[in-house]
Amino acid sequence: MNQSRENWGSRMGFIMAAAGSAVGLGNIWRFPYMAGANGGSAFILIYLVFVFIIGLSVMIAEFAVGRRTSLAAVGAYKHYSKRWTFAGVLGVVSAFFIMGFYPVVGGWALAYVFKSLTGLLSNAGAIGDVFGGFITNPIEPLAWMGVFLLMNVVIVAKGIAGGIEKAGKVLMPTLFVLLILIAVRSVTLPGAGAGLAFLFQPDFSEVTGQTFLAALGQAFFSLSLGMGCMITYGSYLSKEEKLPNNALIVTALDTGVALLAGIAIFPALFAFGMEPAAGPGLVFVVVPSIFAQMGGIGTLFAAIFFVALTVAALTSSVSLMEVVAAYLIDQKQMERKKAVYSTGFIMVITGILSSLSLGIMSGFTILGVGVFDFFDILTDKIFLAIGGMLLAIFVGWVVKKEDLEDELTNGGTLTFGLFNIWYNVVKYVIPVAVAVVAVLGIMDIAQTGLMLFGLAVILVLGIFSHKL
Ligand code: PHE
Repeated sequence: MNQSRENWGSRMGFIMAAAGSAVGLGNIWRFPYMAGANGGSAFILIYLVFVFIIGLSVMIAEFAVGRRTSLAAVGAYKHYSKRWTFAGVLGVVSAFFIMGFYPVVGGWALAYVFKSLTGLLSNAGAIGDVFGGFITNPIEPLAWMGVFLLMNVVIVAKGIAGGIEKAGKVLMPTLFVLLILIAVRSVTLPGAGAGLAFLFQPDFSEVTGQTFLAALGQAFFSLSLGMGCMITYGSYLSKEEKLPNNALIVTALDTGVALLAGIAIFPALFAFGMEPAAGPGLVFVVVPSIFAQMGGIGTLFAAIFFVALTVAALTSSVSLMEVVAAYLIDQKQMERKKAVYSTGFIMVITGILSSLSLGIMSGFTILGVGVFDFFDILTDKIFLAIGGMLLAIFVGWVVKKEDLEDELTNGGTLTFGLFNIWYNVVKYVIPVAVAVVAVLGIMDIAQTGLMLFGLAVILVLGIFSHKL
């Protein structure tokens, strides 16, 4: 099964691809509005603690398992124990569910490239209404989502080094530069101070169990963890790479971009007197508003910003699609192109339902929420966190400690001084921490029925795991 396995073209290529997977809508679209809705600074602080203790450790673990087995998520688990196959399958299900809403927002980003160039900024007062009108339209966002998904299919069908790797190398750095530019403009607006205070002066009065769950879910989502994505990417990695170092670089880049997005958005938001809890429309309204004040050059910047956002989204969604495709390729012996086309086809359907749920289908709900929210909440609040916990238990209690040490030190040729600390965090701290946060958060959340449904799905997968 392994002799024709693909590999990353270069070290830089892998880092860019893994960072490309991590840095996406989660950082620029979602992080700011999650922070806004959960009280700002306290959420961010909790988020950072989760990222560097839980997220980084889980990422190292995912890389180790993937490279050790040279198999994508399902195969990697199965390789050690058939009973654990379900944890990999849960990952594939999560990828499918995330792809149920992700391309919708990716399509918005793409659409905003053109909207920026065709007069969106000329009427600054209407930018918010334009967004509302656009996402509830029954046709326009679907067309953009279709184009976005098509780009995914083309890249993933081309395979690892030729497609995914190349796309990340150019546009990720562009995104970074633009965010810095926007951040500088944002913090120099009159009245920006309130935004910085909102971001960085911790106020714990609004913290609840739900805040912790939101921060944990966001950490897993943003780092692409808990669903086998980094197992899959690690499986294409050469034996010379230093896994802990790579995980640290990817985690630091991801966190840097999220914070930068916060610094770009909140000072401007407060300067313009908008609401921090504005929800999913936040970047699509605040960023054009900032640029609208700059005249002609602003139009150009806005367009470039949305190009970069589209690319960030694309390098993430290809990794999600790759998880599903790799499963079909590794486990079902499907040819790559066929795997990608069939995956893409189903994603068009879920994407359409999800997009329409924000407009004409808004009356249709499952367990109290629309289709878009169904996919979003289930993955973000349940599947990824539980998936990460299962991986930690698996790595801590099923995989042999010597194997892990061997893999993380490249057969003893390099040192990983923190190995024992890492091992104990994975084995004891993460399972307990995630369980506590999940229980507290789920008790605190409005959509209890949906949460219980999510847990039931995991339970059913677990029970039938020997058949998977
Ligand atoms: N990390 C991506 C983002 O921040 C989303 C993602 C989640 C990608 C899980 C792959 C796996 O947008």
